[in-house]
Amino acid sequence: MPFSKVLVTQIRKVDEGSGQISAETATHEEIAGFRPNEPGPIARLVQLIDVSKAYTTGANELALDDVSLQIDSGEFAAIMGPSGSGKSTLLNLIAGLDRPSSGSVSVDGVELSGLSEAALARYRRQLVGVIFQFFNLLNTLTVLENVLIPAQLGGMKRREANARARELLDRLGLADREQEMPGKLSGGQQQRVAIARALINRPRVLLADEPTGALDSKNGEQVMDLLSQLNRAGQTILLVSHDPVLTRHYASRIISLRDGRVECDEWLRPSAGVAASAVQQAEPAGVAP
Ligand SMILES: Nc1ncnc2c1ncn2[C@@H]1O[C@H](COP(=O)(O)OP(=O)(O)OP(=O)(O)O)[C@@H](O)[C@H]1O
Ligand SMILES: [Mg+2]
Repeated sequence: MPFSKVLVTQIRKVDEGSGQISAETATHEEIAGFRPNEPGPIARLVQLIDVSKAYTTGANELALDDVSLQIDSGEFAAIMGPSGSGKSTLLNLIAGLDRPSSGSVSVDGVELSGLSEAALARYRRQLVGVIFQFFNLLNTLTVLENVLIPAQLGGMKRREANARARELLDRLGLADREQEMPGKLSGGQQQRVAIARALINRPRVLLADEPTGALDSKNGEQVMDLLSQLNRAGQTILLVSHDPVLTRHYASRIISLRDGRVECDEWLRPSAGVAASAVQQAEPAGVAP
């Protein structure tokens, strides 16, 4: 059987006439060639059904205990909860960085448990972008080179990748810093480089694990403001945060975890990005430096 015909997962497709959703199998090739930035009819972007996670080392309790959750395209959702409540575990499962012990995680119709390691790596490159508390930039590479890494791994043409990286850095207020080493930038600037890197492959969902946790309040607010602008342009965002004030100000929904379970799921306001996500790809819209 040729590589491209290996069936790896189920993908949901919507019949444009009837609006009916059907499940079909997809090949590695289809996933590899999938253009996540194209507006699609599927609103339900992230779906967790009865997800549990037990770590083989550490505490005996489940890190996630039977969590079911869905995030729609264009939402700006936040996950909150005490330390150890399972926030990073949840984000890592959606990011494809880890696998659940049981239950189903699907993103944009792709059921992650059906993916081989190679397909999961492609998924991580193409469908999700992740930013972390401590930026995780490579300090031996320039700002521009850092942003280019996922594009190079994903096989984007050099000229297109350079143009997109420069455009993102420009919109994130870092045009004049592209040749600098990340260590010379402030924390807020480094996080903006990490955001540019996370966006270069036009992910369907941006996952952020405490992106303001290592920043002072001014830089933290700037990063949240930036995420909010991205969301208004249609980018779906799932954010883990410890900061109730910032989160309540910017997010449209707060999912509270406790002991690995969803304790409360609260919609604060309509997501500005929902309408935008249906008609345009996520781009930072006129982000101020
Ligand atoms: N790699 C691991 N090995 C073993 N146990 C783990 C691992 N990662 C997380 N855990 C455990 O799973 C539980 C949930 O951890 P998780 O990191 O998801 O919490 P969190 O809500 O992100 O906490 P924090 O706010 O401190 O970042 C904790 O009990 C933690 O000790
Ligand atoms: Mg965490």
